[in-house]
Amino acid sequence: LKDFTNKVAVITGAGSGIGRALSVALAKRGAHLAISDIDADSVDATAQLCLDAGARVRSFGLDVADRDAVYAHAASVREEFGGVNLVVNNAGVALGAPVIDMQWQDFDWLMGINFGGVANGTKAFLDDLIASGDGHLVNISSVFGLMGIPSQSAYNAAKFAVRGFTESLRQEMVIGGFPVGVTCVHPGGIKTNIVAHSRGAGATDAERAEAHKQFQKIAITRPEGAAKAIIRGVEENRPRVLIGPDARLFDAIPRLIGPRYEDIMARVSKRSPRAAELSGTPSDTSVRSCT
Ligand SMILES: NC(=O)c1ccc[n+]([C@@H]2O[C@H](COP(=O)([O-])OP(=O)(O)OC[C@H]3O[C@@H](n4cnc5c(N)ncnc54)[C@H](O)[C@@H]3O)[C@@H](O)[C@H]2O)c1
Repeated sequence: LKDFTNKVAVITGAGSGIGRALSVALAKRGAHLAISDIDADSVDATAQLCLDAGARVRSFGLDVADRDAVYAHAASVREEFGGVNLVVNNAGVALGAPVIDMQWQDFDWLMGINFGGVANGTKAFLDDLIASGDGHLVNISSVFGLMGIPSQSAYNAAKFAVRGFTESLRQEMVIGGFPVGVTCVHPGGIKTNIVAHSRGAGATDAERAEAHKQFQKIAITRPEGAAKAIIRGVEENRPRVLIGPDARLFDAIPRLIGPRYEDIMARVSKRSPRAAELSGTPSDTSVRSCT
């Protein structure tokens, strides 16, 4: 997929961050857009930006964790746009919690969106992508789909799952001779609202606001830069897109030193309050990195 003019692009989680920037960038490239988000007001605002850029656009309220709703959404897009060329399974949330403190409801919430949402969106639209004759699927993983990080077990599990699912599917498309490119994206830190939207063990609103502020300082790449990298990845039909110098580092470390990175990471990370309580030693606050 090299020319986006009059091509139909479906993007989830388009009300903020990477999804919004990608919607606007594709609008400027002449694509027709079917964009969705669980937050209907935010995706309406993105739709307005796309309209301002001259695109044909329709916004949908959609919870990607709700499989029936995703299939109903695919049917609506098919009916309204007549076909689909590009699907970007982007919607995602973050959770910072050591396994020992993690609540099952938070684990289920994250897995339902970050992995369930990607699988739902892939299967609901795969026939449309094949039928288009020049389809492309983009699934958003993370650098945390390349390396395990303390306090990110659920997020790591979902993003490693996205990577495995997507890498497997790309090969299936090749083996089957289906005209669908498949790309797995691993962003490093991107200046979005992901931390503000996150959950964490015992995190109060004030703590989350502070973590959001800190994250804006350490995240290297702007959402517009991420959108540009994703579009280039689609044009070049790349299997993997790394976004930002931090992503290249996350990619290199486990390849260079193998699983020894785990011991090094553990030494530089702080301990969770609950783990410290159980082991009877004092601790700092839990790691709240959220990419
Ligand atoms: N920001 C980063 O540093 C970073 C790094 C690596 C990967 N990612 C991934 O990029 C993707 C986009 O995140 P972002 O950084 O733009 O965050 P963001 O919070 O700015 O945007 C995510 C959007 O997803 C939506 N969303 C949340 N739950 C949903 C649901 N159940 N159904 C539909 N939409 C839902 C939110 O309302 C929000 O608009 C996510 O998959 C995230 O895991 C982000």
